[in-house]
Amino acid sequence: MPSAAVPSAAAPTGATGAATASGTPATGSAAALFIPPPESDMPNDAFGKIVREGEAIFLHTPEKAGKFVGNNLNCASCHLDAGRRPNSAPMWAAYVIYPAYRAKNGHVNTLAERLQGCFRFSMNGKAPAPDDPVLTALQTYLFWLASKAPTGVKLAGQGYPKLAPPAQKADYVRGSEVFGQYCATCHGAKGEGQKQGDHWVFPALWGPESYNWGAGMHQINNAAGFILDNMPLGQAGLLSAQQAWDVAYFMNAHERPQDPRYAESVAHTRERYHNEADSLYGLEIEGHVLGSDSPPAASRLKQQ
Ligand code: HEC
Ligand code: HEC
Repeated sequence: MPSAAVPSAAAPTGATGAATASGTPATGSAAALFIPPPESDMPNDAFGKIVREGEAIFLHTPEKAGKFVGNNLNCASCHLDAGRRPNSAPMWAAYVIYPAYRAKNGHVNTLAERLQGCFRFSMNGKAPAPDDPVLTALQTYLFWLASKAPTGVKLAGQGYPKLAPPAQKADYVRGSEVFGQYCATCHGAKGEGQKQGDHWVFPALWGPESYNWGAGMHQINNAAGFILDNMPLGQAGLLSAQQAWDVAYFMNAHERPQDPRYAESVAHTRERYHNEADSLYGLEIEGHVLGSDSPPAASRLKQQ
């Protein structure tokens, strides 16, 4: 375990690596930022082998853990710089706060259970068994990233930024303009992403290859925080908070795979799991009730 007695090293000014890889993250300036160990520190022993396996799964999830993945995303699609980047829900900050209570399922979750949820919702796939080598490798990678981090505390840069409510209510038309100007070149005019041969270069933002209606990213507040601090890729800070809210709304006002917890009807499922302002599931937007025409799961899972 990372020792609770060792305080996190203060980030040297101008430190390279995760903190500065793609722009300066908007953390409080006073808080020392934890810096995970560099790649070069990965040990060359049996432990290091599992750490590397975990990192490979994190970076190439459909290739390395295909039977649990139903879309074209990698863990690193939403947790940038291989899970190192502050304000991109970095893995070192997550490791030290689990087990934790989650309102989503109403009980204390182990880290393994948290990761199972990622496969079921964000990856639109199936949860690996708690002792599956995929979960063991991922947890080993997270453990290593958190080397020497203090445990049980919320580290600066944890999670995605929690934005203040937008000045103007998030808007579909304004969001579509932001999308066309800043996002479509990479993610495609219809949010479908871009492939080179069989290899995805830019992930889909909605449709059959995206995260499903149960994923955290479908909530507009999570998406707005992620987008403001991380997108457009390599140009974080370009959008205003209002633009981030608008484009997050637009992105999440499109169909995506069904919530795997779906029961009875869209209206019932909304009432049970989505009864909040940050979810558009079950609402009628632009003449369409979201969730009523969810595309079927991607082919990979059906081929099993
Ligand atoms: C579509 C984007 C997306 C993908 C892909 C994704 N995640 Fe996440 N992840 C999120 C969001 C959003 C949250 C936070 C919101 C929430 O609580 O649901 C989160 C939260 C987490 C957390 C908790 C972070 C914390 O600080 O509490 C962990 C751990 C995690 N994800 C691991 C993974 C792993 C491992 C994978 C790949 C198997 C993965 N995620 C894939 C979007 C994603
Ligand atoms: C220069 C190309 C580029 C631009 C422009 C860009 N993105 Fe991304 N985006 C990426 C890449 C690449 C990833 C995956 C990150 C990785 O693999 O490191 C990503 C990931 C994402 C994700 C999480 C993964 C997923 O597919 O759900 C979201 C959401 C997202 N981008 C939204 C946006 C929005 C909204 C905009 C416009 C404001 C935008 N992006 C502009 C390249 C881009």
